[in-house]
Amino acid sequence: MSTYQLCLLLLLGLGLGAQEALPPPCDSPVYCHGELLHQVQMAKLYPDDKQFVDMPMASHPDQVLQAFRSLASAHNHSVPRPQLQAFVQKHFWPVGLEMQPWVPEDWTDSPRFLEKIADARLRSWAGQLHQLWKKLGKKMKIDVLREPERFSLIYQRRPFMVPGGRFREFYYWDSYWVLEGLLVSEMAGTAKGMLQNFLDLVWTYGHVPNGPRVYYLQRSQPPLLALMMARYVAHTNDTAFLRDNIRALAMELDFWAEKRNVSVSVGGRSYVLNRYHVPYGGPRPESYSKDAELAAAVPEGAREALWAELKAGAESGWDFSSRWLVGGPDPSSLSSIRTSKLVPVDLNAFLCQAEGLMSSFYALLGNEPEATRYRNLQARRLAAIQAVLWDEEKGAWFDYDLEHEKKNHEFYPTNLTPLWAGCFSDPALADRALKYLEDSEILTYQHGIPTSLRKTGQQWDFPNAWAPLQDLVIRGLARSPSPKTQEVAFQLAQNWIQTNFHVYSQKSAMFEKYDISSGAQPGGGGEYEVQEGFGWTNGLALMLLDRYGDQLRSAAPPAPLQPRCLAAALVLSLLLR
Ligand SMILES: *[C@@H]1O[C@H](CO)[C@@H](O)[C@H](O)[C@H]1NC(C)=O
Ligand SMILES: *[C@@H]1O[C@H](CO)[C@@H](O)[C@H](O)[C@H]1NC(C)=O
Ligand SMILES: *[C@@H]1O[C@H](CO)[C@@H](O)[C@H](O)[C@H]1NC(C)=O
Repeated sequence: MSTYQLCLLLLLGLGLGAQEALPPPCDSPVYCHGELLHQVQMAKLYPDDKQFVDMPMASHPDQVLQAFRSLASAHNHSVPRPQLQAFVQKHFWPVGLEMQPWVPEDWTDSPRFLEKIADARLRSWAGQLHQLWKKLGKKMKIDVLREPERFSLIYQRRPFMVPGGRFREFYYWDSYWVLEGLLVSEMAGTAKGMLQNFLDLVWTYGHVPNGPRVYYLQRSQPPLLALMMARYVAHTNDTAFLRDNIRALAMELDFWAEKRNVSVSVGGRSYVLNRYHVPYGGPRPESYSKDAELAAAVPEGAREALWAELKAGAESGWDFSSRWLVGGPDPSSLSSIRTSKLVPVDLNAFLCQAEGLMSSFYALLGNEPEATRYRNLQARRLAAIQAVLWDEEKGAWFDYDLEHEKKNHEFYPTNLTPLWAGCFSDPALADRALKYLEDSEILTYQHGIPTSLRKTGQQWDFPNAWAPLQDLVIRGLARSPSPKTQEVAFQLAQNWIQTNFHVYSQKSAMFEKYDISSGAQPGGGGEYEVQEGFGWTNGLALMLLDRYGDQLRSAAPPAPLQPRCLAAALVLSLLLR
């Protein structure tokens, strides 16, 4: 290091002493940070900031940046909107040109699950959902491999399913439900390709990014890769693929253990659990103007921390929700976000499940020492979940607030994730969970389980309902040995299928989320318009149609009963069975 560099570092250190300096969200001076990004995004050339950062460059970034420097200095670093627009049109391609449609080779006309569906209208609809794989299939153009510097997209060898709409690339946690749907559709080859892409990303980056874009690299999403592998292997017996990639699965769990760990003291004992945490500054490139405007309302010294918490919120998959605002100075404003100060139930249940799966994978591959190591990790986590997140009085698990040293007792479907993940020791807990749902009056909602009971305008709050959260509760309850609890699981599946089916009948589309407050509607709120497609919604619908196809009905309940009356009727019908 030269004296000059040393001096520069020293000065930087002094200048930034007041505020914790965080690195930018990623490296690209076009897609991640810098003047070009700032001016284009703040001019709001497009209704959705994601559009600009998805546009490929027409030439090498050096050329684009040089052209922009001339333009910026010609306008004293404040380029008027029409000139910005012309610049982007000249130097960038429209979105989507880096990908091409792909019809999966393993798609067939009539997968067997269709025959099991008793209701003719549901059977025909299931056939249409199965057709949608041909619309959601994409592959990346070879240009992305040849000239990666021109794209925010990160090249992937295998074709994949996208969620749909603005989500032009694949997403980490979405893909678990997509993969389940593909297996129902007998498309294990496509499922394997998607797994291969995720494993490639782990081999390269040491973790699974939120999606294959440079601006998603520093954050992950709820960790479901080991589960995807387990489902694929259970379906195919492809243990060779497991053997080839077991190290990548282990690397991914090491990432969570080393970069997302937090220690919690409860009752005089210390436990290690995990949290969502993304210590990178700057606005999210794909929501740049919103993040910049939000930060303008907080003191300058607090902005980097706010941006990091927003990214952690995105990493949680719940972007955004009152769940991450509780305990903040103004829980109605997104600027109160404090994702990393909470120990989430779902994250720790997912990791607990992954540790259990790793133990069985290693046992299957004949590696007993590693199988034992993961079994011990899981046992340690189970004890921590029991001590820190379980609430004996309320009969459910709750996020733990690290700063206020207490649980957050609000309702979220994720409060039951340990059931879904099989991370609990006492089978009676599934019936306690049913009581918890009854106490929280959740079973009174006829069209789906709400995301929370707070109406905030955020998309991960009331009145939106999301497919993955329905699954957490439905398959959580279905694990119970009690017929009554299993019947409630079925009834919730029935409600959700009717919501999906009803909206599909009216709009000819599947949606990323649903509004369950006044009949079933496409959802709303949050940072962008509701999207059609839609990967995980289709995946869960196919799973439920596969599992309960002989009992599900397309018709809505006969009369609009009062919610309480409906709950009473439900209980009565269970008693009379
Ligand atoms: C350029 O912008 C700066 C800061 O916005 C301003 O102080 C300066 O007067 C401007 N120069 C010209 C030539 O307009
Ligand atoms: C996988 O192997 C098990 C046990 O060897 C067998 O019972 C099962 O039928 C196989 N499944 C497939 C899809 O080949
Ligand atoms: C998290 O893991 C890292 C790496 O193993 C370790 O250095 C650190 O002390 C851990 N932090 C906590 C709070 O356990």
